[in-house]
Amino acid sequence: MNSSQKKQLFDEAANILQVNDRGGYTIPTQGLYPFQWNWDSCLTAIGQAHISEARAWQEIDTLFAHQWEDGMVPHIIFHELDDGYFPGPDVWNTKQATPTSGITQPAVAGFAIKRLYDRSKDKALAKRHASELLEKIDRWHQWFYASRDPANTGLVALIHPWEAGRDNSIDWDDAFERVPTEGVTPYTRRDTQHADPSHRPTKAQYDRYLWLVEHFRSLDWNNSVLHNESPFQLVDPGFNAILIRSCADLAKLAEKLNAPDIAVRNTQLAARGLAALESLWSDKLGQYVCFDRAEGHAVESASIGGILPIFAAIPAQRATDLVARLNQLSGHARYLVPSHDPSDSRFDAKRYWRGPVWLIVNYMITDGLRNAGHNEAAQKIESACLELIETGGFAEYYDPITGEACGGESFTWTAAMVLEFLERV
Ligand code: GLC
Repeated sequence: MNSSQKKQLFDEAANILQVNDRGGYTIPTQGLYPFQWNWDSCLTAIGQAHISEARAWQEIDTLFAHQWEDGMVPHIIFHELDDGYFPGPDVWNTKQATPTSGITQPAVAGFAIKRLYDRSKDKALAKRHASELLEKIDRWHQWFYASRDPANTGLVALIHPWEAGRDNSIDWDDAFERVPTEGVTPYTRRDTQHADPSHRPTKAQYDRYLWLVEHFRSLDWNNSVLHNESPFQLVDPGFNAILIRSCADLAKLAEKLNAPDIAVRNTQLAARGLAALESLWSDKLGQYVCFDRAEGHAVESASIGGILPIFAAIPAQRATDLVARLNQLSGHARYLVPSHDPSDSRFDAKRYWRGPVWLIVNYMITDGLRNAGHNEAAQKIESACLELIETGGFAEYYDPITGEACGGESFTWTAAMVLEFLERV
């Protein structure tokens, strides 16, 4: 790509961030997602820093201003009312000052603020924001292990698929059978009015998403009981790897910023998590897999959640194994990395997290590959990402076989990731 093409892509990406900026926070895309989402904001901030460091810090500050008393950081902050989205604040009914959802999302904030800090040109500004965020992110990490790992295994479980950020992954299918659909208050979906229904989760899945929300609401969103009261308890290797990486990064940043307690605690959490992650390795699939905690068995499902652990400091042999796995996948998909293995009969090239490529996941995977010294493998994925953008625009996700743009358009975190990838190619 020559420099004028790069400049054009940079400008288009920057424009999307600006159009979706609501002053203090950025919506993922107009129509489909009109509020602030947790991991969207943290990853978006990394892109925003290419334009304004102050604005990038503000994005994460705004998210953490809505941290719950118990330490949880919710997955959606409903800053303004918008009827175009379901389920809205009245369904969640979490009784927060600014309405929020009642579940969380992947803990990418620790990683994000270390990246912002390390790259910052304005170190005084960075130090001010990072020092305040350290303590809040540390509380969130402690909340995770206390509330989502009550038996102290070193790995946290999701209690709702939306927590994983991979809403309708094939990983959840079997466990989802145990979630009832009866008794859910009748509702009208809004997502299918903004995006092609064949790219979105099914009605049966939506019923179960809603059943879980209503169940947790009936338990007053009390995180000391939700995990054990949930029929859905899934240990996702990717989700854990993100948390582990954030603990490790937060620890390193805390050392720099002279917060030794936070550094020691998060170093220990990361080490314990990494050791436990090994229990999720599947020799058969050549990658990590989920564990169904409620039923006590591994989930045989080759999804991207099992490749994402490259983002954490896994053993060198595992990193090499995952590169082999990526090579296998490239035999089945033109564009890496499909969110599910195309050779699995359940793969669905256009349906959300059951096949499509997502740039944010590619970003974390390539970051991990580079840290593990697999630059060539990373570069292959990074180039594929820019090719997708050039042909399909800044979509929410892409068909890994044809490259077709799917889901929402002018998507914030896709644009943010492009600003990052442009630096690498
Ligand atoms: C969808 C995605 C989730 C994301 C949200 C907003 O729910 O699955 O990962 O955070 O949209 O973009």
